[in-house]
This record gives sequence, C-alpha cells and structure tokens, in this order.
Amino acid sequence: MAMERWISAEQRVPEEDVSNQSLRPRVLDEYIGQRELVERLRIAIEAARRREEALEHVLLHGPPGLGKTTLAHVIAQEMGSSVHVTSGPALTRGTDLVGALTNMQPNDVLFIDEIHRLPIAVEEFIYPAMEDGRIDVAIDSGMNARTLTIRLKSFTLIGATTRAGLLSSPLRSRFGLTHHLQYYPPDDLLTILDRSAQLLEIAAERNALMSIAQRSRGTPRIANRLLRRVRDYAQVRAGGRVDPSTVKEALALEGVDDLGLDELDRRYLKVIGETYRGGPVGLEAIAATMGEDSGTLGDVVEPYLLQIGFLARTRRGRQLTAAGGGFIGVTVPEVVEEGELF
Ligand code: ADE
Repeated sequence: MAMERWISAEQRVPEEDVSNQSLRPRVLDEYIGQRELVERLRIAIEAARRREEALEHVLLHGPPGLGKTTLAHVIAQEMGSSVHVTSGPALTRGTDLVGALTNMQPNDVLFIDEIHRLPIAVEEFIYPAMEDGRIDVAIDSGMNARTLTIRLKSFTLIGATTRAGLLSSPLRSRFGLTHHLQYYPPDDLLTILDRSAQLLEIAAERNALMSIAQRSRGTPRIANRLLRRVRDYAQVRAGGRVDPSTVKEALALEGVDDLGLDELDRRYLKVIGETYRGGPVGLEAIAATMGEDSGTLGDVVEPYLLQIGFLARTRRGRQLTAAGGGFIGVTVPEVVEEGELF
C-alpha cells in the first residue's frame, strides 16, 4: 500500500495550499535562491516589457516543491498580467484549451503543470498557438467539415515538469527559455525559513531554523512544512520554544532523520541494499518489491538520494554507493560504471 508521506514535496491538502499562498514570494525581489534563473527572468521580463510584448514561452523543469508554480505567478505579476492555471492530465482534447486561450488578455500567462502528461492531440493543438498566435478549431464534420482559425492575443505559455526527458522535441523546441531548477542549498533554505517564521509570527532561534533547513532535502515546500510541524510541537510540548532540540524531537517523532530522510527513503535504500545486495536493479523491480508506484519513486525519492551521493543510476539499473550502503549499514559492491542514464 502506498504510504502517506507528509514529508513529500508533492502538493497536498487544500489548507496547506492556502497557508502556503501567504508564504509564497509574489515578486522577483522576494524570491530567494535560484539566482541564475531569477537573473535570466529579470532580463527577459524587462526586455519584453520595454517592447510591450509577451514574455517568450518558458519551460521549467526539476524536482517537485522547488517553486515552479510560484514562479509562474511571480512572472505574471512582474508582467502586470494574470495567470491561468491548468495541468497536462486535466486536458484531454485540444478544444479543452479554447476557452482559456480566447479569454486571455494581452501578455497573460497560461501555466500548464505536468506538461509531460499532455496528450498528443493537445500538444499538436497548441503548436500554432505558441508559434503564430492562432488556433485551428474543427467545426462540423463530414461534408460540412471546416476549420475555423481564431487569432489569439499574445500570451506566454509556462510549462512545468518533473520529467523534461519525456517531453517531445517539437514541444521542447518551442520554448524560448528553458531552465532546470536546482535543489536549494541550506543557506537559501535558512533565508526562506527566516522569512516564513516572520510571516507566521514564529519566534525561532536561528540555529533551530538552520537545523530545519538541513533536514529539508533542498526543498522550500518541505522546509515550510517542517516549520509548521515544529511550531505545533513547540507549542504543545516545549512551552513555545523553537530551539534545536525541539526541532530534533519534533522531527524524530515524524520519522525524519538528521539528513531529512524519511521512512520511504530508508525503505527504498534498504530494498536495494538488502533485497538486491546493493544493486544494480531496475526501478520497476524496486517499486514492485516496495509496493510503491515507480513514478513516485523516480520523481520524489530518487532525485535527492542521487544528489547526496547515496545512489547511482547506471545503465544496468539503480545501485547504492558506498555512502548509501554505509548509511543503512550494509557493504555494497563498488559502482563500476557511474553516470546518468536519463
Ligand atoms: N517560499 C518558498 N519558496 C520561496 C523562495 N524561493 N523565495 C522566497 N520564499 C519562498
């Protein structure tokens, strides 16, 4: 059974979305980290504004929770326009986009999350929209079949994906700006947590926030979620004091260790280390053994384990590194051929 994973970077309950809203940066000046991306956007936005044009289409890829949706809102705000939000799986036919595309004002943003899951029919429908600002809508059928061409106002498509590799190359090539979001270093997470603590009026010691930052797997969404759990724990069990020992106790109770890894990460490492003697082993075999979805493991669990050097992805499958094996207390064979397969 797929386990509940409160530490997961995936978006969750609506209340969290609501409380996250207030923590989200609204303009580029408030946006912490991803400096290279912020600088590229600043230049592109300023140039587009001066020319009174829409910003070029933007493709953002990277692990969940790093701020792709937030950036779409920030970009729209900076362009003085509105954002229309949808997602790949929500769109089944090209015509599902007619309403949104024809209702947009000049230079508005259309945000498509999980764009790698866009059906091919929708993908083909949006090519002329992205390229020439028009859509071709089939009306009637049989003898009376005609195509109606509708001219659109200028707009910016922002696509977000955790799997850039799954995007077709015709789609990928239609984006003017493409950027991979990186995990946030602890110092940036500390700055984000400091800002969130102020907004939520949590009196927290700096070293307590640092200790949350170090357990946040490079992900602001996780950092903010851990901060709320620590606040609850401090309020009920520690007289409201948020210090490093409160953080450690609160997070230990939730199964989060000193590296920020949770039960699912540890189970994943143990399956490779113990059941498959360190690997190499295919993702599908790991997923089947764990009773988890391979997509979740690939998108949510593996990227951070790769990042901290516990896991290697080789041509023959997933393999634990010496550090990964050491973490769960098993000796594993050396990784012979390192390197990303995807
Ligand atoms: N909250 C979540 N992510 C953030 C970021 N990158 N900058 C500022 N606040 C944030």
